[in-house]
Amino acid sequence: MQNVSVALYQPPATLTQLFVSPQTDAVVRRAHVRDVPRLYELINYYAARGDMLPKTLDQLYNRIREFHVADVEGEVVGCAGLKITWQDLAEVVSVAVHPEFQGCGLGQRLVESLFVEAQEMSVTSLFTLTLQVGFFSRLGFREVPRLHLPHKIWQDCSGCFKQDRCDEVAMVRSVL
Ligand SMILES: CC(C)(COP(=O)(O)OP(=O)(O)OC[C@H]1O[C@@H](n2cnc3c(N)ncnc32)[C@H](O)[C@@H]1OP(=O)(O)O)[C@@H](O)C(=O)NCCC(=O)NCCS
Repeated sequence: MQNVSVALYQPPATLTQLFVSPQTDAVVRRAHVRDVPRLYELINYYAARGDMLPKTLDQLYNRIREFHVADVEGEVVGCAGLKITWQDLAEVVSVAVHPEFQGCGLGQRLVESLFVEAQEMSVTSLFTLTLQVGFFSRLGFREVPRLHLPHKIWQDCSGCFKQDRCDEVAMVRSVL
């Protein structure tokens, strides 16, 4: 087994330089285990700026099956996750696109890829907790009062550093 020091791995303040161009076509695909270090870097880069919640390496390895990535010539430049919550409900989590690749439609393609998976899984409703209301509105989500979401989802909030000052907006969308 490779000798990896999980505790010592910290995301850099800046993202690793990419050697691919936003003009190059991206493939949206299911994440592989080898993508975890780049997901960790991308998600925590935005988390450090307060845009989204952080993820540990442990969480990402445990939940790598939830993730879809945008891949440009082998470089991961975006990600999004679908977390099944209940019988007919799933959460869209950790949608992030590398700054150099924003505005190219990758965020939309990643979330649409989650829609396909949700349909395959017979999930009928999606929700997200986000600061990017405009982006998710564009993708058919609508704002709802946070307490309209099932009580079960708030269990996750108990470990969140934002739990007493949460500023995220609850949004829902039907998958049908
Ligand atoms: C939010 C984010 C994922 C969008 O990714 P992106 O690849 O730049 O978005 P796309 O190019 O796919 O945009 C799709 C549509 O949404 C619109 N859009 C994108 N970001 C938007 C925003 N912040 N507000 C309003 N509309 C937005 C685009 O204009 C586009 O609409 P159009 O087709 O009518 O032109 C990206 O900006 C990002 O990674 N932000 C930092 C991390 C973050 O905040 N993630 C959300 C966590 S929940």
